[in-house]
Amino acid sequence: MKPFLYVANWKTNFSFNQEVAFAKEHHAELIELGKKPAATIVLCPSFCSLAPLHELFKNTSLALGAQDCSAYKPGAHTGQVNAQSLAEVGCTYCLVGHSEQRTQCQETNEHIAQKVTQLISHKITPIICIGETSKDHRAGKTLSILEEQLTPILALFNHAQALPSLAIAYEPVWAIGTGTTPTPDTLHKTYTWIRAHLQQKLGHVSQKIKLIYGGSVDEKTGLDIIKLTDLDGVLVGGASLDFQKFKNIVELQR
Ligand code: 13P
Repeated sequence: MKPFLYVANWKTNFSFNQEVAFAKEHHAELIELGKKPAATIVLCPSFCSLAPLHELFKNTSLALGAQDCSAYKPGAHTGQVNAQSLAEVGCTYCLVGHSEQRTQCQETNEHIAQKVTQLISHKITPIICIGETSKDHRAGKTLSILEEQLTPILALFNHAQALPSLAIAYEPVWAIGTGTTPTPDTLHKTYTWIRAHLQQKLGHVSQKIKLIYGGSVDEKTGLDIIKLTDLDGVLVGGASLDFQKFKNIVELQR
């Protein structure tokens, strides 16, 4: 069975001291969790904590991810963190296009595609977040929004014979932090569409792209979600801030 991804997105809920304290307090348990053969655990703390967490978890089965990255090579880009630095502090994953970035930083799909290019050139797996707002959901526009968000990303690989490691996280904006999730049936239909779309645009190589779900995943909602056959992982926000809740999600039976 290929490992299921459990990605903890701490956002900026914790301060630097709190993130390091969390990692130290749960150090042994997190490493233990990472040893589960069917699970890959990825911790995504804020930028400041990446280096100390790398020190704490290097040479363990736990992976480290950033929450964003610069769209540019090293240069005059004040305030940004480039992919090379992320690789140097041990990141093997990085979220891009999170809806909070899209709305709070007016991020465009083209800009997100540039970030993907940077990450790939440093062998970091981009976790590309896509998802529709509640307004678009109610208007029945989910699939057209997903298509729009994916277009500049998929254009990067149009003629590729082989694909780099990539993950796509479907996170409906209306499900983030609300306690509401799409029904398993709706999710199944959405993932079936995403798979078919990837296949149509990229051919059979697209099979290796991992599909993830995010938005109000906890011990209860996770039960049905992680059983979805076309799903390769979950992206957990709020519930990842409590070690026990996160562990319970990782231990749900698939
Ligand atoms: P919640 O799990 O808190 O809904 O957050 C989901 C999310 O945004 C993960 O990236």
